[in-house]
Amino acid sequence: MIGFFDRLSRPFIRALEPEDAHKLAIKALRYVPVVRQAADSPELAVRAFGLNFPNPVGLAAGFDKNAQVPDALLRLGFGFVEVGTITPLPQTGNPRPRLFRLDSDEGVINRLGFNNEGASAALKRLAARMDESGIVGVNIGANRDSADRIGDYAQLIETFAPVASYFTVNVSSPNTPGLRDLQQAKVLDELLARVLDARERVRPRSGPVPVLLKIAPDLALNDLDDAVGIARKHRVDGMIVGNTTITRPGSLRERGKAREAGGLSGRPLFKLATRMLAETYVRAEGVFPLIGAGGVDSGPTAIAKIKAGASLVQLYTGLVFRGIGVATEIKTDLLVALKRGHRNSLVSMVGSDAADITAESWPS
Ligand SMILES: Cc1cc2nc3c(=O)[nH]c(=O)nc-3n(C[C@H](O)[C@H](O)[C@H](O)COP(=O)(O)O)c2cc1C
Repeated sequence: MIGFFDRLSRPFIRALEPEDAHKLAIKALRYVPVVRQAADSPELAVRAFGLNFPNPVGLAAGFDKNAQVPDALLRLGFGFVEVGTITPLPQTGNPRPRLFRLDSDEGVINRLGFNNEGASAALKRLAARMDESGIVGVNIGANRDSADRIGDYAQLIETFAPVASYFTVNVSSPNTPGLRDLQQAKVLDELLARVLDARERVRPRSGPVPVLLKIAPDLALNDLDDAVGIARKHRVDGMIVGNTTITRPGSLRERGKAREAGGLSGRPLFKLATRMLAETYVRAEGVFPLIGAGGVDSGPTAIAKIKAGASLVQLYTGLVFRGIGVATEIKTDLLVALKRGHRNSLVSMVGSDAADITAESWPS
């Protein structure tokens, strides 16, 4: 039924201005009852960061910035949903237009700038669903005008620990000036120290909520060395590789829109993000698991991420172009691949191509 409405409504949604289409999608998920998908096959289960994921296909941050519809999204078949980015105070973000669909590239450029309703609105919603099952991560960021950006992250950890399945420390959005500088070694070291201190402070009340670090796919490899080294030193629970890119691959067809400032996601990001994932995997040496994001929109792209080093994957832009059946489609393909390889879990596939990928020439 969902698939039917999805196919029917997609041309209409495509005709809308992208930000209005997104608002409409959130509204539909709030008010149209979504029937829960059948339980996932046990072969798709993944244990990572101390959590039991029913399947490895997650919804990436940015779609449900204000934690309005995490349970409807879980019912669509996602194995986990990441809400946010949430900042301590509400903020409106950059002026519109700030979201561009590159239809013939199956990509999106956004320069939203952490538009969100702020911590207290999201907290209320997440507290109201505390008895629901399902993994809902909270992606946190700093307010644009904050005098103490690191303090914003620490404060959000304390605020959301009772309601978050895990945290993502987002230091990689390109649309808040200076935010990505938090990835630089000295600052990242201090940031993670304070974030993990905050986590320890609330541990007696909230348990050991996993903390993941989300990085940009645009880091130079020596900066990636530092980022992984510092993440390991502070014993973060995992990393997400990664966010949108400020680069523009030469293959882009929508040349006009490609000149818009902002972060590029979707298909055109796939190669770069998968390369950075493999680079991160070889540096992490199995100390913590990785989530692969960037251009996942099908079974083959999800499998490529897993072989590059991802224990779990996330997608956002694939939902825009493939529709709400995308998680189910990917899961079906994963099961076929497992059957074909006579495997009963995805674990043995994780990172099997990482060394080869890092030996290839750099994606352009
Ligand atoms: C419109 C839009 C908004 C996004 N907002 C956020 C955000 O608030 N926080 C964040 O960490 N990532 C954000 N992202 C990045 C995604 O979470 C994801 O890392 C990236 O888009 C790559 O995945 P994809 O190619 O499947 O979209 C956003 C992406 C898009 C397209």
